[in-house]
Amino acid sequence: MTFDTRHFRSALGWFATGVTIITARRSDGELIGVTANSFNSVSLDPPLVLFSLDRKAYSLAHFEDAGCFAINVLREEQEALSSLFARQGAHKFENLDYEVWETGAPVLSDTLASFDCRTRSTHDGGDHIIFLGHVVRYRSDDHGRPLLYFRGKYSRLQDIH
Ligand SMILES: Cc1cc2nc3c(=O)[nH]c(=O)nc-3n(C[C@H](O)[C@H](O)[C@H](O)COP(=O)(O)O)c2cc1C
Repeated sequence: MTFDTRHFRSALGWFATGVTIITARRSDGELIGVTANSFNSVSLDPPLVLFSLDRKAYSLAHFEDAGCFAINVLREEQEALSSLFARQGAHKFENLDYEVWETGAPVLSDTLASFDCRTRSTHDGGDHIIFLGHVVRYRSDDHGRPLLYFRGKYSRLQDIH
């Protein structure tokens, strides 16, 4: 079978996901973050999660260097935040509220859930690098609705019939 990249991406787009912002603190103290829908749960015991980051991402070397990351699961009202962190480069944290837990990665305020992780391993994922993280602390809200990403667009639970 020959693979047309656009068609392959479109087939993958049938898998609806949530949207996260993945953050870390560089060794020089600068904060970094990217919007990612490649987040997934892996293991309950030990508690492991993963995401994959494009080899071309500005922040790749910084995530590798940091040795930790925080996953922030967005609410449906946080589409603008998602768009902000989908831009390339640094300086995405101005006027943003966040906390620091165990690892030093910024944990964004008012998310549906957040997971503070130490990087356990990284793996070759073709044109991406897969980060496997050990969750050392998390927070989960009791209520709320997730921002979704479906067929290349932001979506909400009530939009999908
Ligand atoms: C909904 C959504 C999901 C995304 N998921 C990923 C992802 O899982 N992995 C990735 O490398 N980029 C993903 N991106 C693209 C990055 O957010 C974008 O390339 C960003 O510029 C990376 O930041 P950086 O260049 O500062 O490292 C996604 C973008 C959007 C809008």
